[in-house]
Amino acid sequence: MDRIQIIQEIFSKTPYTNYLEIGCHKGKSFLPIRAERKIAVDPNFIIPITRKLHWLAKWPSNRKNTYFEETSDAFFNKRGEFLKQFGPLDVILVDGLHNYRTSLSDVLNTLKYFNPKGLILMHDCYPPDEAAAYPSEFFPSKEEQKNIKGWKHEWCGDVWKAIVYLMKKHSDVLEVGVLDTDYGLGYVMAKPGFKNGDFKIDEELFSEIDKLTYQDMMKNPGATINLKDAKHAEKIIAKIVTDSK
Ligand SMILES: C[S@@+](CC[C@H](N)C(=O)[O-])C[C@H]1O[C@@H](n2cnc3c(N)ncnc32)[C@H](O)[C@@H]1O
Repeated sequence: MDRIQIIQEIFSKTPYTNYLEIGCHKGKSFLPIRAERKIAVDPNFIIPITRKLHWLAKWPSNRKNTYFEETSDAFFNKRGEFLKQFGPLDVILVDGLHNYRTSLSDVLNTLKYFNPKGLILMHDCYPPDEAAAYPSEFFPSKEEQKNIKGWKHEWCGDVWKAIVYLMKKHSDVLEVGVLDTDYGLGYVMAKPGFKNGDFKIDEELFSEIDKLTYQDMMKNPGATINLKDAKHAEKIIAKIVTDSK
């Protein structure tokens, strides 16, 4: 199952309505998802009008979508009131800037508005090779790409470190892991005792984890990022369906 299928299963089998996607790009995942109320955040939307019209015809609720053309940091800084009014976010896809700090901030910021019986998915948490895992603030420039051995134009960055951080810092209230599918789908679910609130980055722990390399993670992904077989998605969906009742 890929990210779109997992998200769709949840909206099909639960009464949930509220979806947030951080990093929408051409709308390939955002538009097909059949949720009643959807928010997209991206500083640079490039959704082809033909795709918008196609998915508007197939899923008319797409006319109610809200688009914020800004970075996720700006979104969370400015849109607190909007998010409160919108109501709890049932499913969130974090797929914006693929660096450790931004992806971690995106998850921590969503925890203030998250439905504790819902799901946060993070794309690109299990890079296929070292080149794809190249740690960089932004998508590597043409100059940088020349120096990355084995570069294949796939960039997951070091989003996987956000999983390590969440496992180390918040395992008391969050269940965190990575499904071995679709470039690694990180999952975050609330455990009993979780409370919505402001989650700040622990800079000391952040720096400690930042020193890890892709090879360090690959020595034992089961332990480092709680890597699970793709089939584990079925258990996650089943749990969310049960909890939603
Ligand atoms: C990999 S694409 C998203 C793909 C999309 N979710 C899909 O599945 O088809 C990453 C997107 O993140 C956006 N992005 C880059 N920096 C961002 C930021 N700081 N906040 C939110 N989105 C960002 C880029 O503009 C790009 O469109």
